[in-house]
This record gives sequence, structure tokens and C-alpha cells, in this order.
Amino acid sequence: MENIKLVIDNTLGFISKDKVFAYEKEVSACNSMLHNGTGKGNDFLGWLSLPSSTSAELINDIKQTADLLRKECEVVVVAGIGGSFLGAKAVIDALSNTFIWLKKDTNTPVIVYAGNNIGEDYLAELMDYLSDKKFGIINISKSGTTTETALAFRLLKTQLEKQVGKAKAKNLIVAVTDASKGALRTLATQEGYKTYVIPDNVGGRFSVLSPVGLLPIAVAGLDLNQLLAGARKMEEVCGLNTPFAENPAAIYAATRNELYRNGKKIEILANYQPKLHFFAEWWKQLFGESEGKENKGIFNAAVDFSTDLHSMGQWIQEGERTIFETVISIKQASKKVVVPTDNDNLDGLNFLAGKRVDEVNKMAELGTMLAHVDGGVPNMKIEVPELNEYYIGQLIYFFEKACGISGYLLGVNPFDQPGVEAYKKNMFALLEKPGFEAETKAIKARL
Ligand code: PA5
Repeated sequence: MENIKLVIDNTLGFISKDKVFAYEKEVSACNSMLHNGTGKGNDFLGWLSLPSSTSAELINDIKQTADLLRKECEVVVVAGIGGSFLGAKAVIDALSNTFIWLKKDTNTPVIVYAGNNIGEDYLAELMDYLSDKKFGIINISKSGTTTETALAFRLLKTQLEKQVGKAKAKNLIVAVTDASKGALRTLATQEGYKTYVIPDNVGGRFSVLSPVGLLPIAVAGLDLNQLLAGARKMEEVCGLNTPFAENPAAIYAATRNELYRNGKKIEILANYQPKLHFFAEWWKQLFGESEGKENKGIFNAAVDFSTDLHSMGQWIQEGERTIFETVISIKQASKKVVVPTDNDNLDGLNFLAGKRVDEVNKMAELGTMLAHVDGGVPNMKIEVPELNEYYIGQLIYFFEKACGISGYLLGVNPFDQPGVEAYKKNMFALLEKPGFEAETKAIKARL
């Protein structure tokens, strides 16, 4: 079976192949640091072997819980933020029928998300929507103390208990959290919820292949075995034994760092399938939170083409020349729509008659790539044979591995996120959270 393929040819007018291949030693040292646990953040390397180490028992257990939620619920709310949200949403959106939840004959519960914002209107509207629905909750938080998620969960739990009673609600709530620490673990133990453990050594943005992502993905009816099989394939392909030239994660990490060192400070991930919007959001978090520190790091942006060719396309074509583009290119759409002939041809589209819509999309992709390269934007392409669980699994692991290598090339710890605490500290001080008295006093003096 084919694998995803990285093509860097269209960066080579901007940087040289020799320079990219000159990274071989450095990249191999970074890859070894990951596998030997000798680099920064080495207590968070559990994600490296998740595909090959996840047991069949765990998968079966997750599937059973998912089946129960699928049977009992019209709606499942997935509560979580950052790494406890984006991976599941990315995979579910990429692989589900876009309109499945508007169909009447589906057995799949509607999946909605909460705990990823503090919008009062959002929560009010969600609670109103749920008020006449049979719903369940998957509450995901590694720390168990994240305000956005805990707040949403308090509201949703209260509502569910009111709607079905405390005893029944308990069976419709699943918690995914630390094995022993945090408020969510304490609460789940006290209430008797079904729980799954986020391994200590797996950080949020690297957790999609743990129960964090796997449970919601199973609720969506997707194939966990294929997802993990794809990831396992990339675990092998991007492993220590693969030569540099054949390791796509190594080449991607080297190329983006070489571009960065040559003034290309912004990487834009482009897709031509609206289903991949949240995959790009997941990617943005993965790289942004891993690399943006110590006043360094590529800024990660994402665009959905051709939609955004009618907005950000102008900037990409002619704005400041500090960007490069990475395109996720799906070889062929899974479904077939052919443009019909129209005798009157009033819209002038008969030149497309008989062609698949995907062929039009492919020409938009090729035309855009050529235009952007001409406009001074280096272009990398990741060719994906098909949009399915197996290849999404490959993509996930490929990007995770590239991110680990790339972070080490940059010289940062790719597995911490100290900067995320700054807003929390101020928010808690402003909300006068117990324990933040000194910060409250200091911040009030500034206002
Ligand atoms: O990648 C990360 O570590 C973060 O994005 C976290 O996933 C996010 O902050 C949510 O944290 P938690 O799962 O502890 O609620």
C-alpha cells in the first residue's frame, strides 16, 4: 500500500537541496534524542510509541463505551480545549460525511463541542439545544483544572442531572483525565463515572491517538484500528532506522528549518478540502505551541482553498515575502460528481461538462501552486492517496514526529507551553481566585 509522500521540489528555487541534505546529521541527532529520551521535555515522549503500544483491550473498551453512547444518546458533547479538543474534531470532521447530522436516518449521534471557549451565548445556545435531547458528555482534561472545560462541564452536568436524574446521568458521562491527579479525577471517582487515563508522558497536543481522541472518534463511528494502523506505518517510516532521504518527517523538519533560517518566518498550511479545516487547526496548535518560544519559531497559519483564494489569496500572492506554503493534497476525492452539459450554456461552463468536480479542484490546486511559486512563495506538498482513517493516521504521526525533530532543530523544548500560563494568571487575579491575592493586588494597581 502507498504511503503519504512529501514533495519539496517547489522549494528548491528558494533553498538548495544540498542545504536541506546538509541537515542529515543534525536531524538524525534530533531523532535519536527523541528515541533515547536525551533531549528537552523528555518526560513527554509517550506519544512516540502510542500507535504500536496501544493494546487491543483498550481499543475494545473504548469501542464498547462509544457504542453505549451511540445507543443511548442523540447528542454527545465533547468538552475539552487545545490538545484535549482539536485532534478529535480534526479527525471527525475530516472523515465524516459533512451533512451526516442533518440526515434523519443516521445512527450516529450529533457530536458537539464545549469547554473550548468562554462564550456565554455559545453555552446558552448549546444548553437550549440540549434541553429536549438525550445527551451524553465526554469530559476531557489532562490537568482536570482547565477553567474553560471545567466551567462548561459544571453547567452541562447540572443540566443532564436535571433532565435525567443523577443516577442515569452518571452512566452518560465519561471522563478522560490523569490517572490520579486533578479535580476531574477526584470528581469522576466520587461520582462513579467511567474514566480513561491520559498517560503521564503524553502532552495535550500529542494526545490524539490516546483515549483523548480515540473515544470521540469512535463515537463518530470511525475505524480506530485503521487510524492506528496508519499511524503505526509512519512510526516505522519516520523511525530511527530509516535513512534521511526516505524519512518524510526528517525532510519536512529540515526543509522548514532551512526556509526559516532564510527569512521565511510564516508557514501556511493549505488544503483543498473543506473537511480538513480543523485538521489545520490541530496542526497549528501542534507546531505553534511546540515551537513558539524563547522568541523563536515559525508562525503557523492555515487556509482553506479555494475558499481563501478569494480572501487571503491576495496576501499570499503579493504580500510580504516571508511565507512558505505546505499543501495537503488529497489525490482523489472519495465521491464522484460530474459536471452536466447544459444546452443553453448561459453560465459558460460547458468547457467543464463531463469532468469531475475534483478535476476542476486539482487544476485550481496546480494553478495556485505555480502562481505562488512565481510570486515568491516556496511550496511543499504532502500527497495523500485518499482521505480515510489509515492516511489520517499517517498524517497525524508524520506531523507529530516532524514537530519533535523540528523543535529540537530550533533548540527549544517542543513539549512544554510555559507561555500559556500568562493569561491564566491574569484572569485568575482579575477574578479574585483564592490563592491569587498578591496577583490581584498587583493587577488592580495597573488598571
Ligand atoms: O497541548 C497542550 O498541552 C494544551 O493545549 C492542553 O491540551 C490544553 O491546555 C488543555 O489542557 P487540559 O487537558 O489539562 O485541560
